[in-house]
Formats: sequence, structure tokens, C-alpha cells
Amino acid sequence: MRSLWVLAVLSLSLYAAEVVQVGDKFKDSGKCKACHSHIVQQWDNSWHAKSHYGNDEYFQKTIDYVARKDNRKSLNTIKIECATCHNPRISVTSTNAEYEAIASLKLDKDSAATKAINNNGISEGINCVVCHNIDQIHDDLPDSKRGINRVSWMKSGTMTGPYADAKSPYHKVEQRDFMDTNPNQLCFVCHANDSSEEGHRFTNMQSEFKSGGKQCVDCHMSPREVGVAATLRDVNGQTHKRLIREHGFKGGHVESMWQGALKVDVRKNARALEVTLVNPQPHALPSGFGSREILIEAQYMSGSKVMKNEVLSLSSHYLSKRGKPTIAHLAVKTTDSVSIAAQGSKTFTLPLQPGADQVVVSVSYRLVNDEVRELLDLKDPIWAKKMVIKKLALKL
Ligand code: HEC
Ligand code: HEC
Ligand code: HEC
Ligand code: HEC
Ligand code: HEC
Repeated sequence: MRSLWVLAVLSLSLYAAEVVQVGDKFKDSGKCKACHSHIVQQWDNSWHAKSHYGNDEYFQKTIDYVARKDNRKSLNTIKIECATCHNPRISVTSTNAEYEAIASLKLDKDSAATKAINNNGISEGINCVVCHNIDQIHDDLPDSKRGINRVSWMKSGTMTGPYADAKSPYHKVEQRDFMDTNPNQLCFVCHANDSSEEGHRFTNMQSEFKSGGKQCVDCHMSPREVGVAATLRDVNGQTHKRLIREHGFKGGHVESMWQGALKVDVRKNARALEVTLVNPQPHALPSGFGSREILIEAQYMSGSKVMKNEVLSLSSHYLSKRGKPTIAHLAVKTTDSVSIAAQGSKTFTLPLQPGADQVVVSVSYRLVNDEVRELLDLKDPIWAKKMVIKKLALKL
């Protein structure tokens, strides 16, 4: 019995996050530019490239807020926890009580953890050597183990990719299914679920996913199209034509992606206005990170005069252990959570306005709802921007 237990502990510890240093030749995207400049440029505009404390106001202020409210842990310990998915090439993956003690006295400057956080090798967030250096994805682990805790890395200098026959003078290559026929497996390393400091699961993208035949990469990279993987010319002066995908990872932060993301139907019955939202996508909307919001706004008009505005917010709200409104990462409970399920639909009713002869309905998306924008004091206009999904008018 005891030996079984020891075996279990041993096999778990074998799977504990293992750090493999990335060699200087491969550390940052600048090293790939000479031959993959088009890919580097697309990725550089993506939010994967911004997923670091210094580059995303919402991420930074969330970390600061958690550290302020949760006085069991230092700011750096929270940063290391979040790095699990946001900066998975970090060289230290956990801290201990001894670290907390020296951090609280501000004597941690020379510690491995503090050096790891300040190392500029991780400032690119989810860069090339995150996805293309994964050797194996361990889907046999409990589903709460994500990011760095779910993968093992290649030896530095070997890139995993979709092609079995690629050759590069700069690095070794190996083909992997999660780069080719099964890319969802790669995305789900991080885009699967996340839990708060209190252990409350506030998002569950993998379990809500209903594949309609399309993969994440079909919509958030691009369909496979003819192009070149590398611009390097061979001995005959030729580049190699390949089927490739874009590396833009466009999603919620990109307004053009929202146009038509939901189908909207507006009807009037005897007592109310009915707005039906149909979601053709394979995951819920809003989804992913908590506190995203869909707004339904109805503007009642009489001629050209605005009589009344009705607004309905579809979002999630969270309570702290002290029973106060809080952010997802400190939640003990989700109080309400309104979203449209994958391949599902929902109808919402709004009161009619007597005397109105027309109503203009607009459905839009915001990255952060009012409550959380205020709690965190987010300043960049992008967090409050209404990205239009659909706008239509109905005669009453
Ligand atoms: C979030 C994960 C992710 C990141 C980050 C990423 N890639 Fe990729 N990359 C992929 C996937 C998935 C494919 C396979 C696409 C397909 O189905 O052909 C791919 C394919 C490629 C290919 C083969 C050509 C193609 O487009 O299919 C090259 C070359 C490549 N990536 C280079 C890079 C470089 C350079 C960077 C950094 C600037 C980078 N990748 C960042 C996931 C990623
Ligand atoms: C000196 C040129 C050069 C540099 C620099 C370079 N590569 Fe490549 N890479 C290539 C060539 C050539 C190929 C093969 C292209 C083909 O077969 O179509 C390739 C292929 C790849 C592939 C696809 C492998 C496969 O088997 O599917 C990936 C992924 C990749 N490179 C990532 C990177 C990353 C990340 C960097 C930066 C750390 C980088 N490369 C730097 C030349 C280069
Ligand atoms: C190592 C973890 C990790 C992996 C693997 C990963 N992502 Fe992400 N992804 C993130 C994080 C973290 C963010 C949020 C970054 C931010 O906003 O600062 C993100 C953001 C995104 C976004 C939102 C962009 C926007 O504009 O709102 C999309 C879309 C996305 N990822 C798609 C994918 C796809 C497709 C794959 C698989 C090919 C993938 N990701 C693999 C961690 C990951
Ligand atoms: C059929 C196309 C399609 C597929 C497949 C798909 N998505 Fe999406 N996804 C969308 C659309 C459309 C939106 C809304 C506009 C946007 O954010 O891009 C969206 C939104 C998102 C968002 C932002 C959600 C929010 O409410 O803020 C994330 C994150 C995301 N997708 C990740 C993924 C991941 C990970 C997968 C694979 C498991 C995936 N998507 C598969 C079409 C798709
Ligand atoms: C299990 C992996 C994982 C861990 C751990 C994780 N995140 Fe994330 N985070 C993601 C993914 C994936 C996204 C993108 C999802 C989306 O856009 O809907 C994201 C997005 C975010 C966003 C939204 C960013 C934006 O630009 O809109 C914030 C804020 C955030 N995370 C904060 C944190 C904080 C703070 C921590 C640590 C306490 C943390 N995350 C830990 C996976 C993770």
C-alpha cells in the first residue's frame, strides 16, 4: 500500500513543471525574423504578444489588485502563478514560505524567483518558443493542470511544427499532431478553464466547446492557404510553397471579428420587444475570461426624437469571501452569468415604449463590464469600447 502511494507521488512529481532553458539563439521573436518575418509581424500584433505584466493594462491591474487583497501572497508570487499560462517560459514556477518571508522584508532582489520575473526573456509573453517548443501535452493530468504544468518542452533549438519534411539551417524540426491535425489540443493547454485564488472555477471554455467541425485555428488564425513558411531561398534560389495559417490570433480585442458573430432577430409582441441572439460559434459568447460583456441596447424613437433607451447587460458577476462584488480571480462565487451557449440561442425581452414609432436595436461587445472597470480603474479606452455585433431598426 505504502509503496503504491510512493509510486503515485513519484509519478506526479515526474510531471511537475520542468523548466528547460531557451538558448539565446531562439529566445525572442527577433531571432526568427530573418526567415519568418511575415509570421513574426502577424504575431507581434496579436494579444499573445501582449500577455505580459508590462504590456496589458487589464492583466497588470488584475495582478496588482489580487496582491493587494490577498495578503497571504506577495506580488511576485502572484506574477509567477499567472505566468503558468501568460508567460510559460519563466524559469521559476513556484515560490515557498521562505521566499514570502524575504519578499515581505524586500530582501528578495537577488533571489531566483525575482530574477526570473524580471528576466526580459519572458517579456514577449506567449511567443514562438512557447507553442513551437512544446514536445508533449499531458492530457492524462487532472484538468486543473494547465499551461506550464501540462506540457513538457523540447530541447532548446528544436521547433515542433506541422510539416514532417521541413529542413532548416537554423534549428532542428519535429512534426507534431497538435501542430497539424489536432491543434485544439494545443489551444486547450491554456484556453480550457481557470480558477480563482479561492479555488472557484470561473471559466470553462473546454467543457462548453461543441465542435461543429471547425478548429480554433480555422477562425482565430486563418484557413490553410498557399504561402511560404520561410522566406529563405534554397540552393536553386527558390522558396518552398506550403499550406500555412496566419499568426494573428484575432479574438475579442479585434472589432472586425465581432461583426455578425451572433445572429440577431428582433420582434414585437403585444407587450414587449423580443430580442433573440443565436450563437453559431462552437463556444459560448461571452466566454473565455470573466467579466466580458454583451450589451443589448434599444433606442425608442418618435420621428427623429429619442424617447427612451433600454439597456440589458449579459455578463458574469463575482462575490468575494466577504460578500462584496469582486473580480473573477478573487471570487468564491459567481452570482450571475448570462451568455449564449455554443450553437444555442436565447431570447430577451425589453419593455415597449408607448407612443414610439420605431426602435433601433444594437447588440455590441465590451471587453470589461462597468463593475470591474471601476474596481480596477482601467484607463485605456479599449476596455469600455462598444464593438458592434449587429444594429437594426424595426417599425413599431
Ligand atoms: C499560440 C501558439 C503559437 C504561437 C505563439 C506561434 N505559433 Fe507558429 N504555429 C502555430 C500553429 C498551431 C501552427 C500550425 C498551423 C497549421 O495548421 O498549418 C503554426 C505554424 C507555424 C509555421 C509553419 C507555417 C504555417 O504558418 O503554418 C511556422 C514557420 C511558424 N508557425 C512560426 C512561428 C513563429 C516564428 C512564431 C513567433 C513569431 C510563432 N510561430 C508563434 C502556433 C503558434
Ligand atoms: C536562417 C533561417 C531561419 C531562422 C532564423 C529560423 N527559421 Fe524556422 N525554418 C526555416 C526553414 C528554411 C524552415 C523550413 C520551411 C519549409 O520547409 O517550408 C523552417 C521551419 C520552421 C518551422 C516549421 C517546422 C515544421 O516541421 O513544421 C517552425 C515552427 C519554425 N521554423 C520556427 C522558427 C522559430 C520559432 C524561429 C526563431 C526562434 C525560427 N524558426 C528561425 C528557417 C529559419
Ligand atoms: C500558453 C498558453 C496559451 C496557449 C497554448 C494558447 N493561448 Fe491563446 N491566449 C493565452 C492568453 C494568456 C491570452 C490572453 C492574452 C492577453 O490578453 O493579455 C490568450 C489570448 C488569445 C486570444 C484572444 C485574442 C484577442 O484579441 O482577444 C485568442 C483568439 C487566442 N488566444 C487563441 C488561441 C489559439 C487559437 C490557440 C491554439 C493554437 C491558443 N490561443 C493557444 C494563452 C494561450
Ligand atoms: C467557427 C469559428 C470559431 C471557432 C472554431 C472558435 N471560435 Fe473563438 N470565437 C469566434 C468568434 C466569431 C468570436 C467572437 C469574436 C471574437 O472574439 O473573435 C470568438 C471569440 C473567442 C474568444 C473571446 C471570447 C469572449 O467572449 O471574450 C476566445 C478567447 C476564443 N474565441 C477562443 C477560441 C478557442 C480557444 C477555440 C477553440 C477551442 C475557438 N475560439 C474556436 C469564432 C470561433
Ligand atoms: C489556466 C491558464 C491561465 C492562468 C493560470 C491565468 N490565466 Fe489569465 N488568461 C488565460 C487565457 C487563456 C486568457 C484569454 C481568454 C480570453 O481572452 O477570453 C486570459 C486572459 C486574462 C485576462 C484578460 C486580458 C485582456 O487583455 O483582456 C486577464 C486580466 C487575466 N487573464 C488575468 C490573469 C491573472 C491575474 C492571473 C493570475 C492570478 C491569470 N490570468 C492566470 C489563461 C490563464
